[in-house]
Amino acid sequence: MNIGIDALACATSHYCLPLADMAEALDVPVGKYHVGLGQEHMSIPALDEDAVTLGAQAGARLLAATGTEGIRTVIFATESGVDQSKSAGVFLHALLGLPRHVRTVEMKEACYGGTAALQSALGIVARHPKEKVLVIAADIARYAAGGAGEPTQGAGAVAFLVSAEPRLLNIPAVSGVYTADINDFWRPNDSSTPLVDGHLSMDAYMDALTGAYDDYLAQGGIPAAQMARFVHHQPFGKMARKAHARLMAHTGDPRGDEVIESGLAYGRQIGNSYTAALYIGILSLLGTDPADLTDTPIGLFSYGSGAVAEFFTGIPVAGYRERLRETGADAEGVAAMLAAREPIDFPTYRVLHGALRTDSADFSTPPQTTAPFRFAGVSSGVRQYEARA
Ligand code: CAA
Repeated sequence: MNIGIDALACATSHYCLPLADMAEALDVPVGKYHVGLGQEHMSIPALDEDAVTLGAQAGARLLAATGTEGIRTVIFATESGVDQSKSAGVFLHALLGLPRHVRTVEMKEACYGGTAALQSALGIVARHPKEKVLVIAADIARYAAGGAGEPTQGAGAVAFLVSAEPRLLNIPAVSGVYTADINDFWRPNDSSTPLVDGHLSMDAYMDALTGAYDDYLAQGGIPAAQMARFVHHQPFGKMARKAHARLMAHTGDPRGDEVIESGLAYGRQIGNSYTAALYIGILSLLGTDPADLTDTPIGLFSYGSGAVAEFFTGIPVAGYRERLRETGADAEGVAAMLAAREPIDFPTYRVLHGALRTDSADFSTPPQTTAPFRFAGVSSGVRQYEARA
């Protein structure tokens, strides 16, 4: 029995900032952002958007194509959680009108959370092949204003359905895993931005890549040379390029960036989306690569600071491009989604950045997003979400 991703949809935020504007405002050569980091725009959430509204938007796009039949589990992966106790998935369950007979949880391990959710979903379907699992990975990458991470911010969400006999991507069972206790990036409970040792995080990422790949081989995986393309977690494009060079040197494979290039296109325009970033990279590869990738193994690397990583493969199923079109996640659909963002200038972005409220006192958010779901504020300590009629 094949198990994997049956359909995949994505969403991003209402606003975006061209990094050229940030470079000009901060008096940084734009080449540092465009070439040095490999990024061009970053998605910026409106004050009435959060991980729940982004996730619900992706979920609604997915379910409009797939329906809800067979879904008995919802796993919401995020490191932009909105409550210490209640799962972000429960808010989303209500917004999407999902059936009552569903188990709903939130999963966290930095950017690796989406892959933890995928692997858990694969296990559930292996045990109950008629069931489907809805996975949501949604995040807002928000760093301290003026810090080195600021140009790598972004916002995005994916929703995917894990099932038997999937119509998009088979996920073979062999997988390589890796954990090391490293303080490269973390967000204490009283902070809305992470504490980051950026250069340590890059080394930790690359050590985790070779560590997870070696475990993948030890578990009986195929060598990298047999993989047609690779998608590595993308906090920013240059990180994936550095990682790829490290993996190729490690395996003796002479191939260069031509086998990762098409997976980098969407992330360059969205910025980091933490748990969603790898899956937005997969969409970018499947939607924009000129080759027919049907039945060819794609190497996938997921990294979450702290640090946990996994190396595994995905195999596109015949008709995968049509399947993307059904959820609006084909190249035209994603291009339209990116073009629909409202560009803002640097001063406007900094006002939004500074206006985020994370307290539980009552407040209302101004109506800004035109998305189908919005975060309306807090009333009696309860987060209020609205769905557009
Ligand atoms: N033209 C072209 N390139 C230029 C340039 C110019 N004018 N000026 C600088 N550059 C290049 C630099 O040479 C460098 O490239 P190389 O690394 O290939 O040499 C690149 O631009 C970046 O320059 P710096 O290293 O000086 O940048 P920085 O120190 O200001 O910030 C960073 C880089 C530390 C990664 C910072 O962006 C950061 O802290 N980011 C957040 C942490 C992060 O994303 N870590 C990644 C691994 S952890 C992870 O993956 C989990 C996650 O999602 C967070």
